[in-house]
Amino acid sequence: MFQMTSYQKIGLLFVCFLLLTAFKTSNNEKFNDRKVSFNSGWSFHLNDSIKDKDTINSATSWRTLSLPHDWGVEGKFDEKSPAGYGGGALNGGLGWYKKTFKIALENKEKITSILFDGVYRNSQVWINGHYLGKRPNGYLGFQYDLSPYLNYGDKNNEIIVKVDNSKQPNSRWYSGSGIFRNVWLETTYKLHVEQWGTYITTPKVTADKASVNLETTIKNQNSVSKNAIVTTTIFKNDTKVTSVTQNITIAANSNQVLNQNVLVNNPVLWSDEKPEQYTAVTTISVDSKIVDEYKTDFGIRYFKFDLNKGFLLNGKQVKIKGVCMHHDLGPLGSAINTRAIERQLEILKGMGVNGIRTSHNPPAPELLDLCDKMGFIVMDEAFDMWKKAKTKYDYSLDWDQWHVRDLQDQILRDRNHPSIFMWSIGNEIPEQWSDEGPIIAKELSEIVKKLDTTRLVTAGMNPAVNMDIDAVTLQFENSKTYFNKLATSGALDIIGYNYAHQTFEHHQKNFPNTPFIATETTSALETRGYYDAVSDQIKKWPVRWDLKFTDGNPGNTVSAYDQVQAPWGSTHEATWKVMKKYDFLAGMYIWTGFDYIGEPTPYEWPSISSYFGIVDLAGFPKDVYYMYQSEWTNKTVLHIFPHWNWTAGQNVDVWAYYNNADEVELFLNGKSVGVQSKKGDDLHVMWRIPFQPGTLKAVSRKNGKTVLESEIKTAEAPATFKLSADRPIIRADGNDLSFVTVDITDANGVLSPKANNEIQFSLKGNGTIVGVCSGDPVSHESYKGSKHTALNGKCLVVVQSGTKGGKIELTAQANGLKQKTIVITAK
Ligand code: GAL
Repeated sequence: MFQMTSYQKIGLLFVCFLLLTAFKTSNNEKFNDRKVSFNSGWSFHLNDSIKDKDTINSATSWRTLSLPHDWGVEGKFDEKSPAGYGGGALNGGLGWYKKTFKIALENKEKITSILFDGVYRNSQVWINGHYLGKRPNGYLGFQYDLSPYLNYGDKNNEIIVKVDNSKQPNSRWYSGSGIFRNVWLETTYKLHVEQWGTYITTPKVTADKASVNLETTIKNQNSVSKNAIVTTTIFKNDTKVTSVTQNITIAANSNQVLNQNVLVNNPVLWSDEKPEQYTAVTTISVDSKIVDEYKTDFGIRYFKFDLNKGFLLNGKQVKIKGVCMHHDLGPLGSAINTRAIERQLEILKGMGVNGIRTSHNPPAPELLDLCDKMGFIVMDEAFDMWKKAKTKYDYSLDWDQWHVRDLQDQILRDRNHPSIFMWSIGNEIPEQWSDEGPIIAKELSEIVKKLDTTRLVTAGMNPAVNMDIDAVTLQFENSKTYFNKLATSGALDIIGYNYAHQTFEHHQKNFPNTPFIATETTSALETRGYYDAVSDQIKKWPVRWDLKFTDGNPGNTVSAYDQVQAPWGSTHEATWKVMKKYDFLAGMYIWTGFDYIGEPTPYEWPSISSYFGIVDLAGFPKDVYYMYQSEWTNKTVLHIFPHWNWTAGQNVDVWAYYNNADEVELFLNGKSVGVQSKKGDDLHVMWRIPFQPGTLKAVSRKNGKTVLESEIKTAEAPATFKLSADRPIIRADGNDLSFVTVDITDANGVLSPKANNEIQFSLKGNGTIVGVCSGDPVSHESYKGSKHTALNGKCLVVVQSGTKGGKIELTAQANGLKQKTIVITAK
């Protein structure tokens, strides 16, 4: 047997040590040490009667929960809700959170801070009875230094957070209520990188070299000055690329800004197609000891919005095929969950989306991280209103005191994200029509430019140009000619159009010196899987967004053929046809990628969620998803609709979206009903045929050869379920999610396209049902229950893992249907 000498043993130990240190510096977890999750172990009390912290007493009842939390979505849809239908008919209210915790004695000489990523809204925070401050804006992160008030060692600390969302309405959409984003505890030495303290730009990029500027703000909270060494090391996929070191002397209780520059050879550029990132790790050392380590992800890329060629990314023309998104996550409400956001983005990527507008507020930081990683061109938006209110108790009331700080914080928080290319300083701001508009726009633009000159400033304007538009189609004023004063204010680097797609082609004439972006388009309306009004009736709904629904489809349904639009918008096809025609049109953000809670159109009970999404509230694509997929991806597409369950003899319009083919032939029960091909700028083909039960089959062909085949069958009576999980294996971390699609099918496995059975769900194992949703905008069933009524044969169940691994069994049951179970594994 091999025996080692003492020297060999020492040698081996040394090698192990080297390996360990190498592992340590390349381990991402290490970079995050200063910030740990502070989400678990909170207590919550919802009660409007406790207005004041001092009225909390021993009789106050508390429920324990983990953050992020949205209490709004736990409530009942209420026709009389003060939040209105705009707010999803879900009430706001006043909520209290508290948490008891200990801080180790060894942290006494350090700084301990609490970081909130967002609390909706009007949060106030106390630590051990000391008031820390207030933050009205619900969408921005903020932090408090707890150190002066903490007990160390065995003694407890208590943090109390008051969240006041009782004044309603304060939003045009469902905002959610509570500590709805992540909370962190941060521990640093007194000498450390400031919060959001790095700013990384890449002013010069060529194929061989990128010059990377690193601006780092270092904070010294010691009462004496400090000598330190600051090193920033650039990593690509955990491999060191380069580093730069500097000695500094920083005065007591002060901040110092440090400018460093490095060159990265043969840079790997970030793009929507290949979202490559680098990581800068800044370390501060004092007397050879590392006292802080701060990680910043960034990307190297260059871009231009060109007057003639639209958007150029790394020299290549890229059309921005974007969507606007509100922040709610359907059945999960507004409580953020990274996997839920990632799923939304995956579904959108699958359709070919390459851009996200964070309408109309700063998003959760996790959304931006995912956009960086997955490749989306982001417009990061600040406000939906300035001084003039859109709803009675909205942010306009906080404007004077908070807008400077809020906008600054947004830019500081977000300016290292390679996915962000534009800052939007506002959406459809009422001041756009008055002389005050340009003054405020200039002020905001200056605030942005002081902190970031690498991106463009825009605003969503309606309309951007001066034009005659029928007053019916506009939401503001009665005058027929609209003079948008922001567009000509000089404050905007890029003109942002909301709607008015008829004017896009004249942009270069109207604004010869300013590039174009369609900040918001379309606003078409559809109920997923609903096709019944295949007559002229579909075009009647809604006649006017502000009129009562009298003349449209029963039950506030909207046909899923792409034919219904809000009066100020267009069908999906109409706007895309213009957009694809002209190179100088940099791109667009469609209203909206997903349906969202609130703002139903028309604004009328029983509707409580929107119809605008290309994907419904549950995450099921509507048919028009495939129109975009056929246009925006390389994937070969052949999608036919509607379903095939009609009355014999009834005329039905069959549409097909397809690509990579010259023609499509349709067969009904094996007999051809004709060949169709797209002419001119067509985006779909159509057959009108009398219904006969059986099989409808489409075949797409190129040069006579079959490209794809697609079939729809008449479903027999609903008999059972088909359950499919987006991820059958999830992490046992108490946070991960599996999204289970529940289809009601006939005995042969064909989707029952009109089934609306109430389904009862039950779960065994270490997991929980955290959301149920059918995507029905008129359903008032809770998203938080364990039963739900399917919409047009489909329902979604969201299962969350516990912290123990094992099998999770989800069973679906309904009267008269054979039950089915799916097994999800948590590891
Ligand atoms: C726009 C507005 C959006 C949404 C949309 C509905 O005018 O910017 O927030 O309300 O209309 O069509």
